[in-house]
Amino acid sequence: MKQEEILELLNKMTLDEKIGQMIQIKVNEARNENKDLIYNVGSILNSVGAKNVKKIQSEYLSKNRLKIPLLFMADIINGYKTIFPSPLAQGCSWNIEVIRRIAEISRNESAFAGVNVNFSPMVDLVRDARWGRCFESVGGEDPFLAKIYAKIIVDEYQKKMNDNKLMQASCVKHFAAYGAVEAGREYNTVDMSKRELMEYYMPGYKSAIDSGAQMVMTSFNIINGIPATVNNWLLKDTLRKKWKFDGVIITDYTSMLECINHGIAKDEEDVAKKAIDAGVDIEMISTCYIDSLKKLVKENKISMAQIDEAVLRILNLKNKLGLFENPYGFADENMEKKYVFSLKNLEQATKLTEETIVLLKNKNNILPLNSNKRVALIGPYANNRAISSSWSIFVENENTKTLKEIFEKKLGKKNFEYSEGCKLLKKQELEQLLKVQPEEIRNNMEQYEDGDIQGVIEVANKADIIILAIGEHYLQTGEGCSRSNIEIPKIQQNLLDELYKLNKPIVAVLFNGRPLQLNNIENKLDAIIEAWLPGTNGAEAIFNILYGKSNPSAKLTMSFPQNVGQCPIYYNHYNTGRPDKTGSRYESKYIDIPTESFYSFGYGLSYSKFVYSNLRLDTNILKRNSKIILKVNVKNDSSIAGKEVIQLYIQDLVGSVVRPVKELKAFKKEYFLPYEEKEIIFEINEEMLKFYNENLEYKAEPGMFKIFVGTNSVETINEVFNLIKE
Ligand code: BGC
Repeated sequence: MKQEEILELLNKMTLDEKIGQMIQIKVNEARNENKDLIYNVGSILNSVGAKNVKKIQSEYLSKNRLKIPLLFMADIINGYKTIFPSPLAQGCSWNIEVIRRIAEISRNESAFAGVNVNFSPMVDLVRDARWGRCFESVGGEDPFLAKIYAKIIVDEYQKKMNDNKLMQASCVKHFAAYGAVEAGREYNTVDMSKRELMEYYMPGYKSAIDSGAQMVMTSFNIINGIPATVNNWLLKDTLRKKWKFDGVIITDYTSMLECINHGIAKDEEDVAKKAIDAGVDIEMISTCYIDSLKKLVKENKISMAQIDEAVLRILNLKNKLGLFENPYGFADENMEKKYVFSLKNLEQATKLTEETIVLLKNKNNILPLNSNKRVALIGPYANNRAISSSWSIFVENENTKTLKEIFEKKLGKKNFEYSEGCKLLKKQELEQLLKVQPEEIRNNMEQYEDGDIQGVIEVANKADIIILAIGEHYLQTGEGCSRSNIEIPKIQQNLLDELYKLNKPIVAVLFNGRPLQLNNIENKLDAIIEAWLPGTNGAEAIFNILYGKSNPSAKLTMSFPQNVGQCPIYYNHYNTGRPDKTGSRYESKYIDIPTESFYSFGYGLSYSKFVYSNLRLDTNILKRNSKIILKVNVKNDSSIAGKEVIQLYIQDLVGSVVRPVKELKAFKKEYFLPYEEKEIIFEINEEMLKFYNENLEYKAEPGMFKIFVGTNSVETINEVFNLIKE
């Protein structure tokens, strides 16, 4: 439709019809007392399936006076039916083509299933492993990665928007700084300087907006005293005015109503006024808008222009998605049948998943395994289908292969035996965990009993190598799953202790959402594979890594703490006045654990061996609007071909505000043949040196900089250069 036609449509709408557009409901939760309401709402949450979506849309349109189509929005953060690794794991690939392919398949599958808007990417910066939602963050603890990944994902979802070909609108979330909740406790307070916000927390969202993301979702948390959902500085001054965002702002699930609990508004009407004043267009699930906006207009507390502005944005989005011409969008039963969960997508999933698996330890190069060795596959995750993230809401777990199934298929029964070993949790722990779960989850849980240690020992005794599949219970990680203890559950640690006594090599495969505290188990393990929550074809990808059919190349994007007491911990921290250098008492450190992380940002091993040398700059003087050419030699000093992520960090040695000890500024993922040596080239320019100063100006300051190049954020070779004034 042309813009004039949209404006005409807006003119024809009654106030009730307009307010309806500003509400998002779940189909089954339409309120009984106001049946007509359901035929006026603007959007639906998490209804999927081409047939289902078409039915809802056609029924709705038959009752809707002005025939304004519904928008279908859903959470497809790591795939629709073909489930990919969690976004945190995706980020560990450091491969934008991996991120793009996952976004592409996720978009196609879910668009065929009728999803118009995807609540993705999630780019909350995460530094605290206690927070259950770390696994959703595509950029992990790094703003530069968040920025790059956000762009790739948004571009991929929306790239065909202008030609109305298979596409989806992107809703970036959760605006803002939800990952910084105090003490890692879910939905908790965030209080930080605007400088800190702009420098670290905002780049991911900003990049999504600059890439044209059509929607923004507000976060549950308070920011500097005001909940994000009614925060004028955040939504109006920053998002709308400074960043010129003219798309649709939606609240998170009931986050508008929750402003009453926050103590910022006395009742629903009060919240509704504050939210519309801050520029919120759609309220998700709660009913402050529907119950109060009309009254607020009638009493002149808000203006009709405010309502019109919000509705116009929503209608414009529907128009951009082509829904006025074709209300069913790309929902297509035939394509759904052909494409969704297709063999091709699954094959891709295996390949893509391999690049997200991080090799954390490989003592004496015990990996890759030789298929002649007899293995015992043990542990509560060895034959478990629940290895997709908790936001894989449309997953069909029966279609997820387990490690046991893949081992059986690939090795036959001769060289391997399986034992569960123990349950995921002790019975009382599980009961405790289930107490807080919604009913549908509780009803679907298996019955729990304690494990059979004896049977396991027999199986393990026959093997040359033990592969131990352990991890966090999938209900222990995700929304509402903050933990003060981020170790592997005790029952699984006990199992490891028993196996350790057998004096056989043990390879752990970890299934978890967040970084875990591994100090209690690491010394008992010969190798550790961080598989995250790898999704439908995760088991096959793990098998390929274990047996060297694929060489691990992923690197951590979140630091693993020595101990939960270190959280929040992140590589790009500031120095203190007393850095931990000599270990003496009056330095900034802990007296019971080391200062540094257990596994650092950027860390991850390979079966190849990469050697860095000969770091050189073409000049040590950087002039404004000029560049330095940096070259470094990287050699694969092994007979195994593999990929390496070459990482470049910079430290501004003296600034008008303190600067981090290092910051990721560039990286390249390169493929190396056996013994191949390459000259890797980076360009350093002034843009890479900019930061927010005290007046929130984004500028580079002349002076000395240190440059670090290496295989992770700790093992680097270094150089210095000078940015000069003119
Ligand atoms: C989550 C969002 C999600 C929304 C809709 C909320 O609970 O915080 O990330 O998009 O639900 O499902």
